Amino acid sequence: MRAISAGVLALLAQGIQGASVLRFGCSAITVERLDPLVNPGLTPSPHIHQVVGGNAFAASIATTDVSAIANCTTCTFSEDLSNYWTANMYFKHRNGSYKRVPQIPNRGNTGEVGGMTVYYTSAYDGAKVTAFKPGFRMLAGHAEQRTDGGVTKWNAICFRCYTAKNFGGDNGAPCSDKSVDSVTLPNKACPGGIRTTIRFPTCWDGTNTDSPDHMSHVSYPETGTFENSGKCPSTHPVKLPQLMFEVVWDTSAFNNKADWPTDVSQPFMMSQGDSSGYGQHGDYVFGWKGNALQTAMDQSCFGATCKGLKTQTFTDANKCAIKKTVNEDVDGWLSQIPSGMPMKERAFTS
Ligand SMILES: *[C@@H]1O[C@H](CO)[C@@H](O)[C@H](O)[C@H]1NC(C)=O
Ligand SMILES: *[C@@H]1O[C@H](CO)[C@@H](O)[C@H](O)[C@H]1NC(C)=O
Repeated sequence: MRAISAGVLALLAQGIQGASVLRFGCSAITVERLDPLVNPGLTPSPHIHQVVGGNAFAASIATTDVSAIANCTTCTFSEDLSNYWTANMYFKHRNGSYKRVPQIPNRGNTGEVGGMTVYYTSAYDGAKVTAFKPGFRMLAGHAEQRTDGGVTKWNAICFRCYTAKNFGGDNGAPCSDKSVDSVTLPNKACPGGIRTTIRFPTCWDGTNTDSPDHMSHVSYPETGTFENSGKCPSTHPVKLPQLMFEVVWDTSAFNNKADWPTDVSQPFMMSQGDSSGYGQHGDYVFGWKGNALQTAMDQSCFGATCKGLKTQTFTDANKCAIKKTVNEDVDGWLSQIPSGMPMKERAFTS
């Protein structure tokens, strides 16, 4: 068996024999201030994102079949022309300058440049899951959230603090191990970096491919979680595959406490001006070709290959590119993060 993440092993240990777990890497297609879901057409959008997937990504994306607009993808499933994106992480130096925290390939992965790992999981209890339809899009998490609440109650979104280099402390399913997982940004240096996990809602109203808040057409289970076969509410009865992102932030260059500001408990912030971490969020625009995703979910595939699905190497995936729309420095030592949002100390209410 090839090297895989302990998190995935833990999922398997929960008894998902017969279910599909696609787990694949996607390189960055862009890092810039665009948000075709929440702020379509706005250049620049309020905060910076790191984006992966198909080359249809732009300030706005048609709500028709994205797989017919894009020609290539930075993901290794070559029929996956979807786009996936999250906020970026920034470090604030004691001297007042900011620097973008780079991403590194996830555990067991090689070849990605920036980007993230994407998972699609079918139901653990063998129930049918219905793949997303063309035009489907959704949001997980609330960019404005600065206190506990919102999606945190579903254990859906968290950070993992790697306690040593090479994914030290990576035990158990994401968000399940309170010794390394937190909803807030870790309150200490993490020698092996920090991983973001974002799990999307898994229940759908069966009709709408989007909604004004990009959330109310979907729902988390009424009780429990997707992992323990929680029931979908009657308003959102259709079970979807569980989409999950993992982003590994390489904080190793920023762990010297002598560089940390003295007035904050930790030096990182998400690009929407959030130093609490409660505002972590992920965005999704579905763009798989034809029936490919349903085909995968109806089998018991595991990892980055699946019978009947086409794949490509990272050498090819990394050739997929778009032109930048917003020209600004996002990577140097900056006097403010691209949105100009100041770092605010976290507001703990719990
Ligand atoms: C994909 O290819 C078609 C046909 O050549 C072209 O019209 C379209 O602009 C391309 N899309 C992108 C995103 O480059
Ligand atoms: C802060 O420190 C970094 C790293 O040494 C340096 O590159 C940057 O120019 C400094 N910023 C200021 C305002 O001195």
